[in-house]
Amino acid sequence: MKKFMAMLLILVMVFSLAACSSDSKESDGNPTIGVTIYKYDDNFMSFVRRAIETAAVDKAVLEMNDSQNSQATQNDQVDTMISKGAKALAINLVDPQAASAIIEKAKKADLPVVFFNKEPETSVLASYDKAWYVGTASAEAGVIQGELIANGWKANPDWDRNGDGVMSYVLLKGEPGHPDAEARTKYAVETVVAAGIAVEELELQTGMWDSVKGKELMDAWIAKHGDAIEMVICNNDGMALGAIQSLNAAGYFNDGKYMPVVGVDAIPDALEQIKEGKMAGTVLNDAKNQGGATFDLALNVANGKDPLDGTSWTLDAGKAVRVPYVAVTIDNITFAEEAYK
Ligand code: GAL
Repeated sequence: MKKFMAMLLILVMVFSLAACSSDSKESDGNPTIGVTIYKYDDNFMSFVRRAIETAAVDKAVLEMNDSQNSQATQNDQVDTMISKGAKALAINLVDPQAASAIIEKAKKADLPVVFFNKEPETSVLASYDKAWYVGTASAEAGVIQGELIANGWKANPDWDRNGDGVMSYVLLKGEPGHPDAEARTKYAVETVVAAGIAVEELELQTGMWDSVKGKELMDAWIAKHGDAIEMVICNNDGMALGAIQSLNAAGYFNDGKYMPVVGVDAIPDALEQIKEGKMAGTVLNDAKNQGGATFDLALNVANGKDPLDGTSWTLDAGKAVRVPYVAVTIDNITFAEEAYK
């Protein structure tokens, strides 16, 4: 009997604690939104995460998850968020191909899902009426970066180090299969060629968006090609920062020895390099607005409203909000600095 009473007491305590904790979440009437970031250890995504967290203050309870670059981990996190009662999901996929698996889970639970940063295939997004995407038009960053390169090349004849009229470049690519990496690579080079500049590709390899990998590749390329390299094209600033470290160590940016390096994102560390004259330019990938739009849409659908309710975002035919990219050089650096504050 004593045992029974003790068990009863424990059960009563457990239930009242559970009631308290769910009350405290719901007492302010704010919905829970389940968020995944493909990995916290990604420079640009840490700014998108911060923007989501800032936007959520007093409006929603966020279940924020680091998927640690594992799709299996992310799938488990989605299951947990659903079972914990999330009213909407905001998903930064690890693997862009995994969108259909996430949609299946959301459909079963009748939950809306807003994908962001890694774009699912249009047909997959179209397969669920409660799925949307927030990101950019991937090709746009490549075109803008290509224009930066072409303008710089034409304005600085000494960038053609050996004077052969051909731009010999190395290219640090992001994650293969990532729509941003594929489109930036293609359109940056195509835009330079369309501007009438002859090019030679000395190296093209993936640095997986990562600074350390960018440095390692650049070290190897400098050792192999030396001064034959005339341009360093990077799919993102993280890898550009790694390349600059490597160039610094090899004596560049000293005694008039220069190398044009371009990136994408306009993260604060890259803006510092532009100010120091070590980066020719970058392309603003607007983390604040992408995080803000992701949250706005997720909050609306969590509250059963139209995704665009009360916002100034627009959806294209593929149910995507596309935040514009902007070219950044030393001339408009303050604008880019403001965008990351
Ligand atoms: C890109 C960004 C990269 C990296 C990637 C992750 O848009 O430019 O730096 O964060 O997203 O998916």
